Amino acid sequence: MRLVLLGPPGAGKGTQAVHIARAYAVPRVATGDIFRDNVSGQTSLGAEAKVYMERGDLVPDDIVIRMVTDRLERDDAVNGFLLDGFPRTVPQAVALEEYLDSVGRPLDVVVRFNVPESDIVRRIVNRRVCPVDNSVYNLDYAPPKVDEVCDLCATPLQHRQDDTEEVVLRRLEEYHAKTEDLEYFYWERGLLRDVESVGPVEEVTRRTLAVLDDLDGDPVQAPS
Ligand code: AP5
Repeated sequence: MRLVLLGPPGAGKGTQAVHIARAYAVPRVATGDIFRDNVSGQTSLGAEAKVYMERGDLVPDDIVIRMVTDRLERDDAVNGFLLDGFPRTVPQAVALEEYLDSVGRPLDVVVRFNVPESDIVRRIVNRRVCPVDNSVYNLDYAPPKVDEVCDLCATPLQHRQDDTEEVVLRRLEEYHAKTEDLEYFYWERGLLRDVESVGPVEEVTRRTLAVLDDLDGDPVQAPS
């Protein structure tokens, strides 16, 4: 399975990616996580990306494209992968398509997670993440069992620096301006499938796996 998860900030891509990657035994390649690891590791890539991430802007295409194609060269991605947060612009999508065509491994599907815009800010400002295993919590909808501590590894949870109302509104602007065009890009190629990302997390996972199990099913309508 070679798939891309698409959707605005807070749509639940990271939350669902963990379950889908496990179900299909493919690696999850999350560009946001790779950048955050580089920021905390104080690498030159991290220093470069941090400036953009703090503002809620996209990191320049050339940096991201190189990083992802290098990652997809690794052995664990040969039999499939899940891309979470990439591509995010048409040039990124074109570069990905060219790369995958060149190695004879085209995408199977692009899942678009839909969530009402009115839910997004609340989901984001109440998000907490584990810096060790990247598991995602929400103080409103999915709190950890022990206050501010990861259920899986007991590490203190973190509040992402870009999870403020001001920055998430900027990230949403970037989504509308640069990423939404990908809906048409992938619809035209017959790859786009829709999942409503509201309700219990397990229910959204069930819906997503049902869509992935039936890729010959009804295609979505043309994006407006
Ligand atoms: P990235 O880390 O990819 O952030 P994002 O796309 O803005 O996505 P989020 O992580 O905010 O949301 P999500 O959809 O994963 O939601 P989640 O599952 O956590 O990117 C960060 C930055 O890196 C970018 O701004 C950019 O600067 C840079 N970057 C990354 N990739 C790039 C690229 N390709 N090009 C250029 N720059 C790039 O869920 C959110 C919250 O909602 C959680 O608290 C969760 O518990 C809760 N939740 C999830 N599902 C539900 C549900 N069903 N009901 C209620 N709550 C739910």
